[in-house]
Amino acid sequence: MDLMETIMGRRSVRSFAPDPVPEEKLQKVLQAVQWAPSWANTQCWEVIVVKEQGTKTELVETLSSNNPAREAILQAPLTLIVIAIEGKAGFKKGEARTDKGDWYMFDCGLAMQNLCLAAHAEGLGTVIVGSFDAAKAAVVLQVPQGKVVVALTPLGFPEKVPAPPKRKEIEEFVYYKQYGRR
Ligand SMILES: Cc1cc2nc3c(=O)[nH]c(=O)nc-3n(C[C@H](O)[C@H](O)[C@H](O)COP(=O)(O)O)c2cc1C
Repeated sequence: MDLMETIMGRRSVRSFAPDPVPEEKLQKVLQAVQWAPSWANTQCWEVIVVKEQGTKTELVETLSSNNPAREAILQAPLTLIVIAIEGKAGFKKGEARTDKGDWYMFDCGLAMQNLCLAAHAEGLGTVIVGSFDAAKAAVVLQVPQGKVVVALTPLGFPEKVPAPPKRKEIEEFVYYKQYGRR
């Protein structure tokens, strides 16, 4: 699949078939995480793969009752959870290098995007879920201190793929030379 086709064709999928994810496809998706860029190659991400329905049900309880991804987590055969190791991205010798502090959201975002694009290229669906109680999810997943649950996604074969939501025009977000100059 051509790169732009993959980028533009990926959708947030919230309806999944029950078919299992073949192990080689899962490994490709995890390899895409492995090769994501990161601050000074610190690779602050970790991933938990959940296939147990009981754990998925507990995770769903950490989402708000109106989160549209709830059902998707229960339907898809797998849920992948991206965890960040704190104090690595954006740090040197324990000191934050920028006024932005910990860059783990950025690096885990890159890892998650790689994951979603690789999944799409393999014919699999994902939907990034960020709106949930991360502290409660950490308890469910027994994530230790110093690590943060960042985001999760169901992973499986899409049953329904929604129409692409509208994007801003390029002219709406690009400036030339200085802010505000079109
Ligand atoms: C950081 C982040 C958090 C998100 N959280 C949720 C969520 O909690 N529930 C959900 O259903 N979709 C969530 N989404 C999916 C977005 O709604 C979706 O990406 C957006 O509407 C664009 O649609 P597309 O992914 O099909 O292009 C999230 C996306 C991102 C990038």
